[in-house]
Amino acid sequence: MTSSAETTDAPLDALGGHDQSRASRRGVRGCVYIGLSVDGFIARLDGDLDWLTERGEAAGDAGFRDFVSSVDAVLMGRGTYEVIADYDSWPYLDKPVHVLSSSMKDSEDARITVHGDLDDAVAALADAGCGRVYVDGGRAVQACLAAGLVTELTLSRVPVLIGAGAPLFGPLPHDVDLVHRRTEVLGGGMVQTTYDVRTTTDG
Ligand SMILES: NC(=O)c1ccc[n+]([C@@H]2O[C@H](COP(=O)([O-])OP(=O)(O)OC[C@H]3O[C@@H](n4cnc5c(N)ncnc54)[C@H](OP(=O)(O)O)[C@@H]3O)[C@@H](O)[C@H]2O)c1
Repeated sequence: MTSSAETTDAPLDALGGHDQSRASRRGVRGCVYIGLSVDGFIARLDGDLDWLTERGEAAGDAGFRDFVSSVDAVLMGRGTYEVIADYDSWPYLDKPVHVLSSSMKDSEDARITVHGDLDDAVAALADAGCGRVYVDGGRAVQACLAAGLVTELTLSRVPVLIGAGAPLFGPLPHDVDLVHRRTEVLGGGMVQTTYDVRTTTDG
């Protein structure tokens, strides 16, 4: 399935180290694993994902199950939850799933815990001892990036431009410096790249 691979193993600590106060809020480390168009969208404006799933089929699982196994919990936006909630199978194994929403308040879905803001979610995750947290959904990812909570990004780009949709990235209060960890070309021309977020130590 893999047609080519390129890897760099630059250890983060040798490249500037970690800023624990910003990148690891109380030990919570946000990890993004997401599929997107080459022009940076994660869904069409109407939520359609066929452009992704059809092309992503040839890439198989693309490491998703291993990734989910590697996290302690999942944190997603309401928009993503509302789509996943209708799926036949729940893809998050037995991981606790936290949903960000200022409009949902509570949910009758026993599989999730709802938080009205990011600080509340981070506090709950930290209190539960969760370190590695899968962050999903465009707005949720943007909020976590802006808050300095993301430490790792795995981006799976499918070979298409869709022109408009829900963007993965948006405005930031600061640059987010990335260190390339690996790139793999999967089936169907999906290009999967993992970056670590480079942070600087205080002072
Ligand atoms: N391509 C992929 O791999 C992939 C992955 C995930 C999702 N998706 C697709 O992306 C779409 C959803 O993405 P999206 O951009 O709408 O983002 P989202 O982050 O899933 O959902 C946005 C909503 O989450 C809540 N939220 C996000 N950040 C918050 C914060 N800091 N504090 C409080 N609430 C917060 C808000 O809900 P309230 O309005 O209730 O406040 C916001 O409207 C869906 O169509 C989904 O299928 C695609």
